Amino acid sequence: MPRSTSGSPRAIPSKQAKLLNCIAITILSLIVLVGLIVLIIWLVVRPKGLAYTIEEGSIHGYDLKDNRLNATFDFVLRSSNPNGKVSLYYDYIKVSVSYDDETIAFDLVEPFFQPRRNVTRYEVKPVARSVPLMGSLAKNIRRERSSGKFVFEVRVKARIRFKVGIMKLRRRTLRVLCSPVVVHMSSSKGFDWTRCDIDL
Ligand SMILES: *[C@@H]1O[C@H](CO)[C@@H](O)[C@H](O)[C@H]1NC(C)=O
Ligand SMILES: *[C@@H]1O[C@H](CO)[C@@H](O)[C@H](O)[C@H]1NC(C)=O
Repeated sequence: MPRSTSGSPRAIPSKQAKLLNCIAITILSLIVLVGLIVLIIWLVVRPKGLAYTIEEGSIHGYDLKDNRLNATFDFVLRSSNPNGKVSLYYDYIKVSVSYDDETIAFDLVEPFFQPRRNVTRYEVKPVARSVPLMGSLAKNIRRERSSGKFVFEVRVKARIRFKVGIMKLRRRTLRVLCSPVVVHMSSSKGFDWTRCDIDL
């Protein structure tokens, strides 16, 4: 009785199987190699020390009626990129102001390119127009109003790309939280710089 072909593994397989093996190993090595190169480049140039600070902050046109808030904010954000080899594309930037975890205003910033070792300042003016507040929130904000200062949180959410030499890396989301941001009713009180936390 002749055996089935699967029963005689030694007849033809050698050449084809060897070739397939060879191709598989080559492809695998290439993948590992490329991965290693990317990892090494990343470790060498990994962007460090991006920093955000709010340098100025004020509020205008505050008005609260029937639990609806009108206000215009004015912030100057300082974004610092101390890296010597990495520059950044800011493709989308949204700056929002929240009070007791409720977002009450936001503003979008024009996309920009930040060179290496650069500090860029930009101004944002988030506007709250007839924003409905829950009763407790309205009460708190009224109390702060009469004390002459508000405590807000400012968040930046940005879509960024790192550029290393001529290489542009994939898009990532940068999240910045500045809290507490103390804003005085009266502009003569000045503004204390607020350092922000960065999550990348
Ligand atoms: C807020 O502004 C809108 C439009 O500018 C106005 O219609 C509304 O009455 C204002 N609300 C308050 C509470 O001042
Ligand atoms: C940072 O880069 C921006 C945009 O290229 C430029 O206008 C600004 O002068 C630079 N600032 C510093 C401190 O180099």
